Amino acid sequence: MNRSLAFLGLLCLVSCSSEYDYSKPLDRDPREVPFVTTPQVIVDRMLEWCEPNSDDYVLDLGCGDGRIIITAAKKYGCRGIGYDIDPKLINLCRKNAKREGVEDLVEFVQQDIYEAELPTDATIVTMYLYPNMNLRLMPFLQTLKDGVRVVSHRWEMPGVPELKKEKLTTGVKLLPEADIYFFKTPMLVDPNWVPPPNEPEEVDFNKIKDKLKFFPGG
Ligand SMILES: C[S@@+](CC[C@H](N)C(=O)[O-])C[C@H]1O[C@@H](n2cnc3c(N)ncnc32)[C@H](O)[C@@H]1O
Repeated sequence: MNRSLAFLGLLCLVSCSSEYDYSKPLDRDPREVPFVTTPQVIVDRMLEWCEPNSDDYVLDLGCGDGRIIITAAKKYGCRGIGYDIDPKLINLCRKNAKREGVEDLVEFVQQDIYEAELPTDATIVTMYLYPNMNLRLMPFLQTLKDGVRVVSHRWEMPGVPELKKEKLTTGVKLLPEADIYFFKTPMLVDPNWVPPPNEPEEVDFNKIKDKLKFFPGG
């Protein structure tokens, strides 16, 4: 089963309890990731690794129902901003933030993350996308100041060695295990990294190579 189909299956099965309407076909690039929530146990661990405090500004790229930003605000008092391409999800995020009493700390923006002017003062960045989408975010991530914590649920950042990785049991039947990858800026690409030959169309490495910063001396 390819990655998109697997995700679509999870989308229906893991998240059907929410009010989101999954019956509509996705009207966008099929290589882009649909809405599947990060299990709360994974959200909690992703944030724990970042050691957040109330000075932090958390950015979730493709924020779904807003749970990462809302948890960071509720548990640690962080300000946060989430972007999602789907207007219905942005409405849901705002509703959820209000229900959890953190609407003054958080903001949700309906925009394509590759077209938005993303906040360069973010101090924590989270994502649950696809490897090719992660890679396309590298030019932005490389503009962030040093020491920004970056956490990815499930997928690696192609070509960038993680500082920590963990496989966790989720307690969710259909997604029993999940990997978390932890990075800190500056995030430099390994000059010897070669895009995986089995998924070349998913990693448009050559298209963005000129925009990337690499470890010196490759
Ligand atoms: C796998 S879900 C993750 C949701 C949330 N971050 C979480 O971990 O629970 C990915 C989200 O990214 C959004 N998304 C996909 N492509 C996007 C794009 N180009 N710009 C903004 N959001 C996007 C989807 O609508 C979906 O809600």
